[in-house]
Amino acid sequence: MRITNKTFDVGRNDPCPCGSGLKYKKCCLGKKKAGAEKLRKRFADARRYNIRLKQKADIEGIRKAGRLVVDTLQLVEADIRPGLKTDEINTRVHEFTIRHHAVPAPLNYRGFPKSVCVSVNEVICHGIPGERVLKDGDIVNVDVTTILNGYYADANRTFFVGSPGPDARKIVSVAGECLRKGMAMVKPGNTIGDIGWAIQKHAEGEGCSVVREFVGHGVGFDFHEPPQVPHFGRRGTGPVLIPGMVFTIEPMINLGKKDLYVLEDGWTAVTRDGSLSAQFEQTILVTEKGFESLTPFSL
Ligand code: MF3
Ligand code: CO
Ligand code: CO
Repeated sequence: MRITNKTFDVGRNDPCPCGSGLKYKKCCLGKKKAGAEKLRKRFADARRYNIRLKQKADIEGIRKAGRLVVDTLQLVEADIRPGLKTDEINTRVHEFTIRHHAVPAPLNYRGFPKSVCVSVNEVICHGIPGERVLKDGDIVNVDVTTILNGYYADANRTFFVGSPGPDARKIVSVAGECLRKGMAMVKPGNTIGDIGWAIQKHAEGEGCSVVREFVGHGVGFDFHEPPQVPHFGRRGTGPVLIPGMVFTIEPMINLGKKDLYVLEDGWTAVTRDGSLSAQFEQTILVTEKGFESLTPFSL
């Protein structure tokens, strides 16, 4: 017998979706009414929020796309130096992606004109690669989303250009730690709100601020799927996490105030006060035990 939740189903010998660690046949399958009730509760939020759970083959597909994303970021890292034009990063990412029989998701996404987002200093996100030249002391975020065999993976890192000053060091280290602390909240039974709470607490504790207008998101079958993953919020709020959920965590942290505006190009988001902004992003799978990053790199 199989229970189904749109894309998720479970066999008798699979781990029970209630998270007990037992086989399904030894757990909720055998318990009839009580078991069905427990499962109904567990899946209620995934249903309510239209969250598409990923199965084994999907996860393997996203993991492969994720490996390519991480390799792309590593390739870019080796290029970063004062004098590099942001459009040269775009060329590298585009060609590397195509050479691996993959597709750069940003290109033509809702009219975005390039294959990668490149965001320098006060640019929070969605910077369009172009003629801007990196200079010593800059920070630059490179956000890569790759489609491989139909599966999407999404990750970004913020790099130092040349030698960082104290402000650059501070904001990059706080942003990295925010992602780490957000990821550490990911386990079945916790909620999406727990992730944002942990991130906001750390950022504000360090005297920095959290951007509200852009959030993490479900990912895998599409670029942006439910649920939204805010990087601020209250413990215990939002959808309950269950194994098979895949979403990004991608806190944008400002050294000054949280306020932003978007440039005339309709994409580039910058800090209103001109302060530095940094971001790190990974694609995270909820597992029985906690989480696995499908775009792993050290933070
Ligand atoms: N990669 C971004 C994210 O993390 C989205 C970029 S949309 C684009 O969600 F069109 F600018 F590429
Ligand atoms: Co994302
Ligand atoms: Co991204």
